[in-house]
Amino acid sequence: MSPAAARGLGRRIDFTQTLHASTKRDYVARVVEHDKAESAEIAMQYGQEYWDGDRRYGYGGYRYDGRWLPIAQAMAADYGLKAGNRVLDVGCGKGFLMHEFTQAVPGVGVAGIDVSAYAIANALDDVKPHLTLGTAAKLPYADDEFDLVISLGTLHNLGVDDLFTALAEIERVGRRAYVMVESYRDQREKANLLYWQLTCRSFYSVEDWESVFRRAGYTGDYGFIFFT
Ligand SMILES: C[S@@+](CC[C@H](N)C(=O)[O-])C[C@H]1O[C@@H](n2cnc3c(N)ncnc32)[C@H](O)[C@@H]1O
Repeated sequence: MSPAAARGLGRRIDFTQTLHASTKRDYVARVVEHDKAESAEIAMQYGQEYWDGDRRYGYGGYRYDGRWLPIAQAMAADYGLKAGNRVLDVGCGKGFLMHEFTQAVPGVGVAGIDVSAYAIANALDDVKPHLTLGTAAKLPYADDEFDLVISLGTLHNLGVDDLFTALAEIERVGRRAYVMVESYRDQREKANLLYWQLTCRSFYSVEDWESVFRRAGYTGDYGFIFFT
């Protein structure tokens, strides 16, 4: 057993469920009001429609409003981040979280990677130079390059091979890591997730996600959002 695997899976911390739950979602309307399959085809391109188009295709307008600052502050405090530390966001979107880390921890170094060219092109100006177009399954960074690697709401969008590879990549490039994925605790939350999701490829219960993390040799921390 490798030293990392011997450490085992890290802590479960749900940093983002309160923020997630503050948005109202009509799960049934999502399925009956539009052609859900067509919406998903468009969403999975992660282009303009997904971020800033109609709600049926994704966010319905993903604008900076400071809502990620308390999350960045909570993470920075929990991980004891300080000036000179480096943080990577895998699936960084428009870079809002990385911007907030620069506010929460002055002097921190940030980087982000995402498959969406549109998101990176429309990222906040201060972080844009630190964002890279690419996939979570092939991180263009050195071993242990980052003090903390974060990935929020991204890994459930990967198929099983890329999911395992991405977890190994996050483990490789970060001294510590935190990943958050969509999950469910009962059949109601499972149905709501299936109704709501557009881009998910990996649907697992909490117990199954923990099994995936362990089998991938992931030793970082993790959390979930639920569709209650
Ligand atoms: C639900 S959004 C989350 C964005 C941001 N992390 C947040 O929490 O607001 C999912 C993100 O995953 C990105 N994504 C999907 N597949 C990816 C992959 N294979 N590698 C990197 N990013 C990916 C999308 O472009 C999008 O930015």
